[in-house]
Amino acid sequence: MSESNQEHLQATFDARVAAESRIEPRDWMPDDFRKSVLRQMSQHAHSEVIGMQPEGNWITRAPTLHRKTILMAKVQDEAGHGLYLYSAAETLGTSRDDMIAALHAGKAKYASIFNYPSLTWADIGAIGWLVDGAAIVNQVSLQRTSYGPYARAMVRICKEESFHQRQGYQIMMVLARGSEEQKAMAQDALNRWWWPSLMMFGPHDAESAHSAKSMQWKLKRESNDTLRQRFVDQTIPQAELIGLTVPDPDLKWNEERGAYDFGEIDWEEFMQVISGNGPCNKQRLDHHIAAKENGQWVRDAMAAYEEKRRARREAA
Ligand code: 3HC
Repeated sequence: MSESNQEHLQATFDARVAAESRIEPRDWMPDDFRKSVLRQMSQHAHSEVIGMQPEGNWITRAPTLHRKTILMAKVQDEAGHGLYLYSAAETLGTSRDDMIAALHAGKAKYASIFNYPSLTWADIGAIGWLVDGAAIVNQVSLQRTSYGPYARAMVRICKEESFHQRQGYQIMMVLARGSEEQKAMAQDALNRWWWPSLMMFGPHDAESAHSAKSMQWKLKRESNDTLRQRFVDQTIPQAELIGLTVPDPDLKWNEERGAYDFGEIDWEEFMQVISGNGPCNKQRLDHHIAAKENGQWVRDAMAAYEEKRRARREAA
């Protein structure tokens, strides 16, 4: 491609981003933009699917049929979110198989939060309230991302996430207003899930490898720290309302900033978890690999059935 043609294409891309027009699959885009969108979307899709494991672990142990049906609905939603995102990511010219192969080879990440164990029923409340709550803050912002298919997938996902967050908070509210043991279980879950939820927003802006470029491309519309602060500011009053204490001795309302000051995240823990050394990393990936292998016969049967239908159509 000639230099001037490349420059023209780049100028057209830049103008579209500047004008807040969405970049669509058929539009020309710089290779590094395509690579970064695929990186983030595929990891987002992996997160949705792997995130089914800690909650799926409690479907057979939910305390009532009512809770069981709600949890089943939520876990099914997460599977659907994964499928939307894999389909949206495939518009970038890669296949679901390639994305999943990268995950299994340790070349692609998924959200750090899902490498923590779900030890009690209160964890299901904390996951809905805090993890889905954090995901909503991030995903509402991503509804304005510059890559069209990603932005549109977010609109549908955000609608379902709101139900996820409400049902989790309601579980925590019931426990916090229950017996002493139930309140202690809810507080224990908050103690264990609070800091890993703050890690979901990624490193501080100054340490973020991708933020500068992602913001320039309007792939990322608000910074990691901005979204993290928004999550903290909206969640503290919710904890106070149900009488739970956020495990951060440095937490303090800052009148001047109109926001909460809060303590420092354990970035060593964060780096360990995203490098594969978290409490459940091996378990999560082994489970995902086994599920793919155990489901191979279904994919083979579907492919054989499709092949037979195609042959019949051609013979007709
Ligand atoms: N978990 C795992 N890896 C993380 C991470 C986290 N919480 N935060 C950052 N990282 C990784 C990044 O992927 C990047 O590594 P890479 O180059 O190998 O991809 C590295 O750390 C540097 O971080 P950056 O901040 O520079 O990376 P990003 O600009 O991509 O920002 C992000 C990180 C904010 C997570 C961004 O990728 C994003 O917004 N992703 C989409 C949202 C998402 O993936 N959410 C996952 C949760 S899904 C969910 O919660 C399901 C819900 O229904 C329960």
